Amino acid sequence: MTVTLLANAKINLYLEVVGKRPNGYHELRTVMQSISLADTLTVTRTEGEDIFLDTGGVLPGDARNLAVRAARHFFAASKAPFGVHAVLKKRIPMAAGLGGGSADAAAMLRALNALDGDRFTASELAEIGAAVGADVPFCVQGGTCLCEGIGEIMTPVKNSLDLPLVVAIDGEGVSTPTAFGLLDTRHQNFQSLAADSGLPHLLTALENGDEIATVSALFNRFEEVIEPQRPAVSSLKQTLLQKGAVAAQMSGSGPSVFALFQEEKQAERAVEFLKNCGVRAYLCRMC
Ligand code: C5P
Repeated sequence: MTVTLLANAKINLYLEVVGKRPNGYHELRTVMQSISLADTLTVTRTEGEDIFLDTGGVLPGDARNLAVRAARHFFAASKAPFGVHAVLKKRIPMAAGLGGGSADAAAMLRALNALDGDRFTASELAEIGAAVGADVPFCVQGGTCLCEGIGEIMTPVKNSLDLPLVVAIDGEGVSTPTAFGLLDTRHQNFQSLAADSGLPHLLTALENGDEIATVSALFNRFEEVIEPQRPAVSSLKQTLLQKGAVAAQMSGSGPSVFALFQEEKQAERAVEFLKNCGVRAYLCRMC
């Protein structure tokens, strides 16, 4: 039996850090949004109990890979392991702030669940995913969610916006722990950041499909530490705005940038322009 699934990337429409736990993990308040840019994962159930992942050589297929770790967590929870032959076709840029590894892990969980007769509910799968990575529960759920805690406390958000968007990345990836470390050197007390939140404005704007209010409520706390180190992030945002975007913001801990457009044609032209400059750029939709 074989299952093929899309592993959708995510962007963060809003990301504030509101605390730090004794174990070093940061408490977030973030609005995550699935986008159509996706990897493809094909999983076949095989004899035995071996977990095999073919990534085409673009990244490790062993236990360093979140999809393999997800499979191990799935079988630890089900206590009924079976053999797995998986093929991952990577499209989401890595270490980009787009949740690519988490998306693959979530797709593995959903695929194994389908191959195992839907043993777990979606919320049980998300709980298994939380042990694999902070963004995995959201990737299991998808859509638009307010994610709190370290990302595992999810509240679905109504999003009536339907705008084309461009995701682009220029330069090397950013390590998530390094990005959190930079915020630690800048902020003694994240709780004080929680008080001054524009989040309610964003939630209302999304619900109403209000483009103008959405644009002014987008926020990402990581920009203040990543942009000074990566001038390419700021210049990419500038270029996207010059090409007609109504907003451009870094996603997650960067360095990818997403931009909202009102016209699909303008978004297409921006993608063409960036590609001609040697920048990886993708025309996407929220999904
Ligand atoms: O959970 P994940 O593997 O995505 O996290 C990678 C690293 O990012 C963690 O080891 C931690 O250093 C940092 N992190 C954090 N707070 C979060 C999520 C991640 O400090 N909410």
